Amino acid sequence: MIEEKIKGVIRDVIDFPKPGIVFKDITPIMLDPKLSKEIVDHLVSIYKDQNLDKIAGIESRGFLFGYPLAMELGIPFVLIRKAGKLPYHKISHSYDLEYGSATIEMHIDAVQKGEKVLIHDDLLATGGSASAAAELIQKCGGEVAGFNFLVGLNFLNGIEKLKNYSNNITNLVI
Ligand code: PRP
Ligand code: ADE
Repeated sequence: MIEEKIKGVIRDVIDFPKPGIVFKDITPIMLDPKLSKEIVDHLVSIYKDQNLDKIAGIESRGFLFGYPLAMELGIPFVLIRKAGKLPYHKISHSYDLEYGSATIEMHIDAVQKGEKVLIHDDLLATGGSASAAAELIQKCGGEVAGFNFLVGLNFLNGIEKLKNYSNNITNLVI
């Protein structure tokens, strides 16, 4: 099963980036191209019949699988980036993280009114990043079609925050 394979390679790094945080390091997945391809194929099998218009990936680790997934589905990919990185006119939203706070931004023309957008990231912790991404999509008139994460840290209850936007929430690994 893909879940077991992902669990088998992700490593826990204790006290990174702050004492008390157990950091889920997904970089070994990228060292394994066969597993990486299996993950993309698995995501395609989940989303191919959901009539999505776009995938939005959250910087930076949300770009790793979000963009390949969008390409395989044949739909556009939207970059949601940390403040100050995007060059064109943009909208912003600030939020709290498991270990700090952040502001994310999206280009104002990245999502059009009525478009169904799947939000993808590598990991769901408090849900602050993903719900901020949902706010950006809704501000542009888009519809949050769902959320996808490789890993969900369920003890932080991020899913509860996301249910305000969509009940279509998938974690490959808990
Ligand atoms: C991590 C992770 C998610 C977010 C999850 O990103 O990749 O985007 O935190 O936390 P949350 O559910 O509490 O919002 P980080 O800000 O560490 O940036 P990175 O992807 O650039 O490493
Ligand atoms: N982002 C927020 N919390 C995280 C964690 N514990 N591991 C990896 N990425 C994270």
